[in-house]
Amino acid sequence: MGVMRSLLLRASESRWLRTNVASRPFARRAVRRFMPGETVDTALRAAESLHDRGMLTVLANLGEATSSQAAAEQATRHYCEAIDRIAAAGLASELSVKPTHLGLDLGQDICHRQLTNIVTRAGAAGSFVWIDMEGSRYVDATLALHGSLREQFPHVGICVQAYLYRTADDVAALIARGAAVRLVKGAYAEPPALAFPRKKDVDEAFVRLGKRLLGGDARQAGVRVGFGTHDLQLIARLQDFAEGAGVDPRAYEIQMLYGIRRQDQARLAAAGARVRVLISYGSEWFPWYMRRLAERPANLGFVARSLLPG
Ligand code: FDA
Repeated sequence: MGVMRSLLLRASESRWLRTNVASRPFARRAVRRFMPGETVDTALRAAESLHDRGMLTVLANLGEATSSQAAAEQATRHYCEAIDRIAAAGLASELSVKPTHLGLDLGQDICHRQLTNIVTRAGAAGSFVWIDMEGSRYVDATLALHGSLREQFPHVGICVQAYLYRTADDVAALIARGAAVRLVKGAYAEPPALAFPRKKDVDEAFVRLGKRLLGGDARQAGVRVGFGTHDLQLIARLQDFAEGAGVDPRAYEIQMLYGIRRQDQARLAAAGARVRVLISYGSEWFPWYMRRLAERPANLGFVARSLLPG
């Protein structure tokens, strides 16, 4: 892992920086590149504009490492209201939630209750809920939460990270269950004992896992798959594989983050791909934004420019 990436990932966990930097006007200007605003209204307006251009969306209210049950319940209420707002706006946006935002650090049962409330409300509104994957110490608990919710609800999916060695086995188990899976490379600082340290190996793991999720077994089991990446080469390799295997391009999704590779998002959608854009919003953006900077330290240039008034 590069020095800058490692420093930025460490900064993402700093409470001091979160308190002292996130409120500064320059930081708020810089983060606008990756999120339309802090309220659900700003996210809905962005979703509408993307839908008008032929793209699908998924909304995420930023927050993680919630340290009280009251805060986890508040996050749940927010999501339930957001589901109603999405339905009232006539949009088909899905939701993406982080288990630690919903109290996983306080106990699996507390998080399970929050997720059950959100997924139940989403089901009534005809929506769908993706469960994000966080640092490696949460993977077992997150898979268990997903597994138990899936027994009751079909409209819940899970994210898996190609950089973890264990993900090959996790994907096999998810395929056997006919799950909905979002494959990403992985955004956290993980030790070489658990995750491929070299980007090249992560990329190859991504393609290997992607092919399995597009393969005959997965299709037979009714797997829904989304590739969460901005890596155009990997997307092209998986598109080629899908075409060769006779998989309809509308049978899988390419998922990207709001503000990253906007032109490519529109180009892929215009060429017939199912493109879903993840729109994050909310005031708790600091650790999430640091991870975006760590993915591409060149983004620090945008932060530097935001220091200029205007
Ligand atoms: P890579 O980092 O190799 O980037 C490929 C190219 O994309 C770069 O060369 C650059 O051009 C562009 N790019 C990528 N990131 C950029 C950035 N921040 N700013 C500007 N350009 C950038 N992770 C996780 O651990 N758990 C999760 O639940 C999720 N969920 C999730 C959902 C969705 C829809 C997406 C797209 C991503 C996630 N991620 C995630 C994040 C993921 O793990 C990964 O960190 C990022 O997607 C960056 O990796 P890429 O696959 O884009 O490749």
